[in-house]
Amino acid sequence: MSLLITGGTGYIGSHTVVELLKSAKDEEIVIVDNLTNSSTKVLERIEKITNKTVTFIKADICDTSALEKIFNQHKIEAVIHFAGLKAVGESNEIPLAYYQNNVSGTLTLLEVMARHQVKNLVFSSSATVYGNNISPLNETMATSATNPYGQTKLMVENILFDLAKSDEAWSIACLRYFNPIGAHQSGLIGENPNGIPNNLLPYVAQVAVGRLAQLQVFGDDYDTSDGTGVRDYIHVVDLAQGHVKALESLAHAKGTVKGCQAINLGTGNGTSVLEIVNTFKEISKQAIPFQVVPRRAGDLATVYADASLAKELLGWQAKLGLTAMIQDTWRWQSENPNGF
Ligand code: NAD
Ligand code: UD1
Repeated sequence: MSLLITGGTGYIGSHTVVELLKSAKDEEIVIVDNLTNSSTKVLERIEKITNKTVTFIKADICDTSALEKIFNQHKIEAVIHFAGLKAVGESNEIPLAYYQNNVSGTLTLLEVMARHQVKNLVFSSSATVYGNNISPLNETMATSATNPYGQTKLMVENILFDLAKSDEAWSIACLRYFNPIGAHQSGLIGENPNGIPNNLLPYVAQVAVGRLAQLQVFGDDYDTSDGTGVRDYIHVVDLAQGHVKALESLAHAKGTVKGCQAINLGTGNGTSVLEIVNTFKEISKQAIPFQVVPRRAGDLATVYADASLAKELLGWQAKLGLTAMIQDTWRWQSENPNGF
C-alpha cells in the first residue's frame, strides 16, 4: 500500500514525510510536487535522516493525466494534501493563480481520488479561516476569510464538508494549522522561503544570520502584554506528528474521524513578537536589530488555538516548547545560511 503526499518536498510536507517514515509500517511514500517552492535536494536529506527511500514524482496537482498515472501505478490508500500557494500578500496580487492552484488543483485531485475509490484525506487548512473571531479559537466557531489565500482554504474546506455529506465513504481531517516554526533537530531540513520572508520566524532567523539588516516589528500598540502581536507558534515536528495521528484516525484505520472534521493543530499558548526576538537573541547569541513600524494591514492582536479537540479525537498534543522551536530554527539557519 502507498500514501500519496502532495507538496511533500515543501516545509511542512518534508517534516511530515520524515515522521511518516519513522512511524512507518511498510507503506510506500509517494511524493508529488511541481517544485514551485521547493527543491529535490530535500529528498536526499529526508533519506539521510531516515535511512529510507521515497518515490518522487515531479507533477502538478492541476494535471489530471499525471495524477491518473500515479493512481494507476501505485496502490494509494490515503492522501495528505499539502500542495498549494501560501503567501497572503501575493494572493492579493495574483488571486487567479491562488484559486487555480489551491481550489481547482484540489478539485482535480479529489476527482481522481473518487474515481480510484481513495476516500481518506488529510488536508492542510489554516487558522486564517477563523477570520476575526476572538481567541482561543475552537472548531465550532463561524469561519470567514479576509484575503484570497484565506478564501481558497475556506472554499476547499466547504467543498470537503459537502463531499463528505454526499458520500459517507469519505473520511477527511481538515487540519487548521496555527503558526508552524522550527526545523528538524538534525539541522538537515527546515523552512526555505524564496525571496524576502513574509513570516516572522524566517525573517528573524535571516536577520540573526546576517542576510537581512533588521526586523520591522509591525506595531507595538496592540492590547497585549508588551503591545506586539501574539501568535500560537507550533514546532513543525509536532505538527508533522499531528498528521501521522490524523492519518491513523481516518476511517481506513482507527476511524475516530468520521465524515469531514476540522481540527486545530496548535499549542494553545500565545507568544508575542518581542518574546520571540528576545528568545532568539538569547539562543543564537546574535544581535537582532529591529525597528517598530505601523501595524500590518489585516493583522489581529492575539491568535491562539483551543487545542482540546485534537487531543480528544487524535490523541495528539504539542510537546515541544518555544526554546526547542527556536534552537532548531537557529541550527537549521546557521548550518544552511543560504537554504538548500
Ligand atoms: P511550502 O510552499 O513549503 O510547500 C508547499 C509545496 O507544494 C511546495 O513544495 C510547492 O512546490 C508545492 N506545490 C504548490 N503548488 C503545487 C501544485 N499545483 N502542484 C504540485 N505541487 C505544488 O508550504 P508549507 O509551509 O509546507 O505549507 C504546506 C501547506 O500548509 C499549504 O497548503 C499551506 O497553505 C498550508 N499552511 C501553511 C502554513 C504555514 O505557516 N507554513 C500555515 C497554515 C497552512
Ligand atoms: C500569517 C498569515 C496567515 C497564516 C499564518 C500562519 C498574513 C497576513 N497572515 O499570519 O494567513 O495563516 O501566517 O502561517 O501573512 N511580524 C512582524 N514583522 C515581520 C513579520 C511578522 O512584526 O516581519 C509580526 C506580525 O505582525 C504578527 C507576528 O509577527 O504579529 C506573526 O506574523 P506572521 O509570521 O506573518 O504570522 P501571522 O500574522 O499569524
